[in-house]
Amino acid sequence: MKREIVDSEDVKLLVDSFYQRVNQDDLLSPVFNDFAKVDWESHMPKMYQFWESILFGSATYQGRPFPKHIPLPIGIEHFDRWIQLFETNIDEQFTGEKAEMAKHRAHTIAHIFKTKLKHLNKFS
Ligand code: HEM
Repeated sequence: MKREIVDSEDVKLLVDSFYQRVNQDDLLSPVFNDFAKVDWESHMPKMYQFWESILFGSATYQGRPFPKHIPLPIGIEHFDRWIQLFETNIDEQFTGEKAEMAKHRAHTIAHIFKTKLKHLNKFS
């Protein structure tokens, strides 16, 4: 049964399952684990807060995500894969207005990141 995203438990499920997919992905995992050497214990709470702020207006995320992406060795194909995994992950588990909102916002933010990276000539 697909569920609606109604509370922070659902957001945690969404984020945990998405990064499980990222960690198993041949294109994205090396960026997170080999290049950025992400400390997952501190990264995950930030991502819960980020998506809670977007979906429920909780304003618990106070960071600036874009600068963190400037040094990464990423191009169009990484964004395409990121979006593909994000959408599949939502569609397999969730339904409803917040699920649609999450996908829509992910697309918008990915588009903004891509546009900014292009302007910085940072696209591989
Ligand atoms: C090509 C696609 C992407 C890759 C490979 C990627 C990779 C990463 C990595 C490696 C970090 C950790 C950086 C660090 O702590 O040093 C990070 C942080 C983050 N990313 Fe992405 N990202 C991608 C797209 C996106 C998109 C589309 C969004 C938003 C919808 C997003 C939101 C964030 C946020 C909120 C953080 C935390 C920033 C902070 O520390 O406050 N990312 N990303």
